[in-house]
Amino acid sequence: MGKLAITGGTPVRATPQEQLVWPQHDQAECDALARVADSGQWQQGPEVAEFEEMFAAYQHAQHAICASNGTVTMEIALRAFGVGAGDEVIIPPLTFCATGLCVLMVGAVPVFADVERHNSNLCPKAFEAAITDRTRAVIPVHIGGTPADMDGIMEVARKHDIKVIEDAAHAHGCEWKGTRVGAIGDIGSFSFQSEKMMVSGDGGIMTTNDDDYAALCKSLRTFGYKSPKPLMTSNWRMGEFQAAVLKVQFSRLDDQIAHKMDNLDRFLDRLKEIDGITYEMDERVTRLNGYTVSLIYEAEKFKGLHRDKFLEALKAEGYTMTASYTNPLYKGRLYQEKAFGASWVVEKLGQKVDYSNVCCPVAEKLAAEERITVGHHYNLMGDKKDIDGLVDAIIKVQQNVEEIV
Ligand SMILES: Cc1ncc(COP(=O)(O)O)c(C=O)c1O
Repeated sequence: MGKLAITGGTPVRATPQEQLVWPQHDQAECDALARVADSGQWQQGPEVAEFEEMFAAYQHAQHAICASNGTVTMEIALRAFGVGAGDEVIIPPLTFCATGLCVLMVGAVPVFADVERHNSNLCPKAFEAAITDRTRAVIPVHIGGTPADMDGIMEVARKHDIKVIEDAAHAHGCEWKGTRVGAIGDIGSFSFQSEKMMVSGDGGIMTTNDDDYAALCKSLRTFGYKSPKPLMTSNWRMGEFQAAVLKVQFSRLDDQIAHKMDNLDRFLDRLKEIDGITYEMDERVTRLNGYTVSLIYEAEKFKGLHRDKFLEALKAEGYTMTASYTNPLYKGRLYQEKAFGASWVVEKLGQKVDYSNVCCPVAEKLAAEERITVGHHYNLMGDKKDIDGLVDAIIKVQQNVEEIV
């Protein structure tokens, strides 16, 4: 029996760190739902319009357009740019499947470009190297709420006349050089799915500073409604219940961000005590939201202990950190087997697509052994004791690592 809980010792925390209940709600959400129910207007109406205005102002955007989720928002954006069969869209590989699926849903080809090691976000140089004469759009993801290098990405995109969709599903309230993300590119996309900073069960929103794209996205969202020309599209509206709940969730957002950032700052400060887990933030990032931050685990400073074993040992001590995105998207069966469905006509048009040789080395190393993230944002809703306990547990694992290597 050793000192570490994983070898039979006493854990730092007797009961595993409780994941706080998320989403959070109180009577205000119930009142909002009742108000909509009583109003008789359940389909998209004034609640949606009011929330769109609030969110646009918050994200420093001229327009915000609600939709059913944060995947179709990106599909609508691609449709607004006229992206379709045969076109290529560049995306990073360490992201949720939605970033690739929206591209496939319009019949286009996702092309993967490598990420930057310190933040797991699309690398502008790798983006530029992946451009071909078919490239029409790029989707940088602000993963975990850390903004991608928007200066570098916008410079490359403008030089090559490529449209930019910011996947800001995690990045409500985050800023790049004083401007909130989402309308730095051509169109931004946010999610209100159940794990996100603000929740409506499902839900999404697009942001843009372009009047024409805003009008087109509105039409594309709703059967082509009010479009001056016919549009082949669908119905991706948000209902009034979701928007009413979002207005309440929004009223708590900044206080919650402040609380999470307080805890995150404490964690990052104490992290300096540990030689072997590093954190680097671009100074042009002027606001985070405490969703997650990406850290680098250096196995050699833990006597060669693999990251996944480290996370297991930490869990036994009662604390959870995650690796998240342990498989670059292109390695998934969808891509390897090209199971893209009958409507994906690219290869029928004679364009050869092969994901078996794709390799983004930085992303692969991060995914396999280096990347860890601190909690999920709702863990950061806890108190300072939780943060100190987590750091103490990391130190304990490192000090007794010879028990498990
Ligand atoms: C990075 C990223 N992009 C897009 C989405 C899609 O959002 P939704 O679930 O609202 O469709 C998610 C998560 O759900 C996500 O994590």
